[in-house]
Amino acid sequence: MPNSALFSTIRSVFTNKKIKGKAHQPFIDRFIGNAILLHSLFSQLYSKRADFETRFMEMIELISDTYLERNSTLVKRDKEKEKQAGWFLSNNMAGMSLYVDRFVGSLKSLPEKLDYLQNLGLNLVHLMPLFESPEGASDGGYAVSNYRVIDKRFGTLDDLKSLQKSLQEKHMYLMIDIVLNHTSNQHEWAQKAREGDSFYQDFYYMYDDRIIPNQMEQSMPEVFPESSPGNFSYDKKTNKWVMSVFHNYQWDLNFTNPHVLHAMLDNVFFYANLGVDILRVDAPAFIWKQMGTSCQNLPEAHIILQFIKVALEIATPGMAILGEAIVAPKQIMDYFGKGIMTTHECDLAYNATQMALQWDALATADTRNMLANQPVILQKPLGCTWINYTRCHDDIGLGFEDSYIEAVGYTPYLHREYLKNYLGGRLVSSPSSGDLFGVNPKTNDARISGTLASLCGLEKAINKKDAKAIQTSIDKILLMQANSMLLGGIPMIFYGDEFGSTNDYSYLDDASKSYDNRWMHRPVIDWKKNAQIRKKGTVENQIFKGIQHILNIRKSNNIFSDTNNLEWLESHNASVVGFKRTLGNQQVFCLFNYSAETQGLTYYVFNSVRKQTQKLLNLSDKSVIKIGKDHEHLMFKPYQFYVLLAESHHSNLLTIQQR
Ligand code: GLC
Repeated sequence: MPNSALFSTIRSVFTNKKIKGKAHQPFIDRFIGNAILLHSLFSQLYSKRADFETRFMEMIELISDTYLERNSTLVKRDKEKEKQAGWFLSNNMAGMSLYVDRFVGSLKSLPEKLDYLQNLGLNLVHLMPLFESPEGASDGGYAVSNYRVIDKRFGTLDDLKSLQKSLQEKHMYLMIDIVLNHTSNQHEWAQKAREGDSFYQDFYYMYDDRIIPNQMEQSMPEVFPESSPGNFSYDKKTNKWVMSVFHNYQWDLNFTNPHVLHAMLDNVFFYANLGVDILRVDAPAFIWKQMGTSCQNLPEAHIILQFIKVALEIATPGMAILGEAIVAPKQIMDYFGKGIMTTHECDLAYNATQMALQWDALATADTRNMLANQPVILQKPLGCTWINYTRCHDDIGLGFEDSYIEAVGYTPYLHREYLKNYLGGRLVSSPSSGDLFGVNPKTNDARISGTLASLCGLEKAINKKDAKAIQTSIDKILLMQANSMLLGGIPMIFYGDEFGSTNDYSYLDDASKSYDNRWMHRPVIDWKKNAQIRKKGTVENQIFKGIQHILNIRKSNNIFSDTNNLEWLESHNASVVGFKRTLGNQQVFCLFNYSAETQGLTYYVFNSVRKQTQKLLNLSDKSVIKIGKDHEHLMFKPYQFYVLLAESHHSNLLTIQQR
C-alpha cells in the first residue's frame, strides 16, 4: 500500500469514529507518526497473504477503538508518564512479585498489605497470573483458559480494578502477565479447534501425523524434559498432534496466522485499559516457529513484539512492556530492539544472566565469571532497563556462555556440575538446600529450584540450630539483594524473600503440583512468622530491615536511577566484585565480598576520586572512610558489602566502559 493510501485509510477510520479535534490531536499525531512503521512491521509478517490489507485494516480499527475506550484517568496518567520520560528508569521504582492467593488469600485482601509493601520500600506489585486457568493443569496460571475472567481462586475483575485504584492512589504501579505464546488446551479457541472448527485449528500448530513434529523436534530443545518431554502432544479428540512446547496442556499459538496476533493484541489492550503499568510478556522468545531452528529468538518473534510495542505507543502509551526472555545475554539484548528499532521493542527485560552469575559467585567465591560477562550486559540501550532479581517463581538456569567460563580458567561442563551439586543440594558440604529442576539426561542440563534463603543456607542452618551459620546466611541474603538492587534497573523481590522464607515442601502433598518442584520456592505466607519482622534481632527482622535499608539508600540517591551510568571495577581480588555509578560530580562505589573469608581491597580501586577527596561516605551507616595508601587495604568481613559515596570530578580508573 503506498503511503498516501495508508494515511487516507487511517484518516477515514478517524472520520468514521469521530476522532477529531484538539483533545484527540496527541493520539492522531502518534498514529500518523507511527503509521508507516506499523504497516511495515505488519507486512514483514503477513504481506504474502491475500487478505493482508483486510487484516491490517482490522488492526487500525482495534488500535482506534482501544484508544477511544481508554478512560480519562488513564489518558491523564499517560501524559504524566510521558513528561517523566523513562519513569521506569527511576531509582524510586522497586517491586515485589507475588501469588495473590499464597501471599494474602485474595485480591480483595491485597489492599490491606499495600502499607506493608510501601514500608519495605516498594512501589510496584507484580501479580502472578490471575486469569482463569484450569485447576490441576495450570502451570501456576501460565495456562490461561480465559484472558478476561479472573480465576475465582483470586476474586473478580472488579476486585482487580479496585486494587488498581488503591495502587494509583498510593502512587504505586501494577504489573501483570500476558501469556502470549500459548493458551490452555481448555481455552475456548482450543475447545473449538478440538470440535473440528478449522478457523480455530489454524490458531494452533496441529498435524495429522508425526511427520512434521518429528522433523521439528530434531532441532527444538525441551523445556520440561521430566514432566512434559517433547514438543508435541497427541489430542485424542481430533486425532492430531498439537505443538505444546511447555506442558502438554499448553498449546502453542500460531502467530503466522494474523488472526492470532489480532486476538492477542486485543487481550494486551484489555490489560492496558485496566490500568496496568507494566505488562510482563511471558516467554516471548518462543512466539515464532520455523522448521530446522530451535524455534526460539527468531527474527519474526522480535517483529511481533515491535508491532505490539508500536501499537501500544499509539493507543495506550503509559503501559510499558517487559520481555521475559530468559536466554543467553547476547540474545536478551535483542529484546530491547535492534538498529532503528532500538527502544521500540521491550522497555524492560529480566537481567537473568546477572542473577545466575550472582549464584555462580556465591557458590564459588569467585566473581570473575560475573565480571567477564559484563561487557555484553552493559550493551543495554539507554532508555530501556532491567528487572534485577535474585529469585523469582521460576528455576535458576545456568545458561551463561561457556567462553567466559573458559576465559576465567574453568571447564564449562565441570563448572556447571559443581554449581548444580552445590546449589541443588547434591553436595554434603554445601550449605544450600535447593533441588535440581528440568533434568535432561540427554543433554545433561539441569536448573535449580529453591528459595533465596534456602539456597543461601538458612534452612540447613536453622535445622542444625547453628547460630553462626544462621548469621552467615543472613549476610549472604543481604549481599545477594544489595548486589542486584544497586545495579541499574528495577529491583524485584520475590514474595517471602523479604523475611527469609525457606523452602515450602507442602507442594509434595498436592498432586497438581508435586510434579513441579518450582513450587518449593513459592511459599504460602505464614503471617505469624512474618510478624517476627517487628521483633529486633530475629532472622526475619534482620532480613526485612536489611532489605528496607538497601532500598532506602537506593531511593535517597538519584545516582541509582538507570542512566547507563555504571562501570565495573577491576578489584584485583577474585572474591570481591564492584561497580561504580556516576552522576554529575558524584560517584558511588558498590563493592561485594562473595567469600566466607575476610578480604582486602587495595585503595587503588578509588583512584578515580582520590585527587578530589580522601574520604568516602559509607551510605550504610553514614560513617566516613578515609582512603588509605595504595598498598593498604579496605577490609571486608565475610559476605560484607559497601556502598561508598564520593564527590569528585575525575575518573581515571581501569574500568569496563558502559556504552
Ligand atoms: C514462563 C513462566 C514459567 C512458565 C512458562 C510457560 O517462563 O515464567 O513459569 O512455566 O513461561 O508459560
